[in-house]
Amino acid sequence: MKKSRIGVLTGGGDCAGLNPALKWVVKTAMDERLESERGVRYEVLGIHDGWKGLVDIDPATWDGTGNITPLNPDIVRTWDRYGGTMLGTSRYSPYDPQNECSNLVIENIQKLGLEAVIVLGGDGTLAIATRLSREGINVIGIPKTIDKDLPETDYTLGFETALNVIVEEVDRLRTTAGSHKRIFVIETMGRNAGWLALEGGEACGAYIILIPEFDFSFERVNELVMEGRRSGTRYEIVIVAEGAKPVGGTEIVKNEETDSFGRKTLGGIGEILAQEIEKGTELETRSVVLSHLQRGGAPCAYDRRMGRYFGIAAVDLIVNQRYGNMVAFKNGEITSVPLENIYGKLNLVDPRTQYDIDRYNGRRTILDSGK
Ligand code: F6P
Repeated sequence: MKKSRIGVLTGGGDCAGLNPALKWVVKTAMDERLESERGVRYEVLGIHDGWKGLVDIDPATWDGTGNITPLNPDIVRTWDRYGGTMLGTSRYSPYDPQNECSNLVIENIQKLGLEAVIVLGGDGTLAIATRLSREGINVIGIPKTIDKDLPETDYTLGFETALNVIVEEVDRLRTTAGSHKRIFVIETMGRNAGWLALEGGEACGAYIILIPEFDFSFERVNELVMEGRRSGTRYEIVIVAEGAKPVGGTEIVKNEETDSFGRKTLGGIGEILAQEIEKGTELETRSVVLSHLQRGGAPCAYDRRMGRYFGIAAVDLIVNQRYGNMVAFKNGEITSVPLENIYGKLNLVDPRTQYDIDRYNGRRTILDSGK
């Protein structure tokens, strides 16, 4: 029987759903029944800490370095129950101009004898996979990010679990907000995409939702808050995406430094907004930043299922030698798209069709796309 060795890594921010996908990559690749059907026996190496794990190794003694672990169905049996990533992750780019080492990564992939590498990542990690693919490395992508901002797929692992965190935390905040007649501003993650804020806000029934794709006015927010109070509400829940900004303003960054993917860390708009609301309405207002809570915890049922489907599909792509593709979920089906089609692109909320620009909320009409 032909033997083949594949690698798998998780890069960028962690999220729930990675471990279920890892489990199903390993189980599918090493399934004995499928082995005889395919005529190939796969070996799966887990690469630790994202792309960094392919820099810092000695391929001659790869099993002794700690960055590479051979995986098997026994090892991954319970992984789908856990959040985060058992392989570890990093925001490390071998194409970082400050520390370019893509040749070393390519050399190590070859020395490890990997026929292909399955890469679980968001836009930064998958952009690296695309560039390596251009240089002749066989890669398969699996979309993950709580931001849900990857194009060509209706789902990215981690998103639903993060939404559940938002709903749970807002439910908790409602009791204290109501007791004190306070306004709560809740800042969600999502970088420059509003999906988490919009769909999280819709799911928890937020009164106001502010997204990066539509600049808001402080005056309009205050007007809406006062309108709510006049109609008899005791408290308001305002969800603001970390990348949202007021008209004429810029997004708020935590610090000016960029990471290896060239990105700044966003955060802080929630507190600024809370102060503006309190000033403008004279109503007691507090802000809460949900931050990394949205990435933590056990994967919800949907992420376990999607992780499973994506993991299986990634191995199917390898079996069929359809390298350079990302598995995707489109119109209710598991499918695949060329990595080149997503390179450098983002999937953002379309405020014209998916947002109520007057009431700063989700829409209350479902557009008939057939017309
Ligand atoms: O891309 C996922 C994400 O959680 C974003 O929503 C957020 O802006 C960023 O990562 C935070 O990054 P870090 O984990 O490096 O603080």
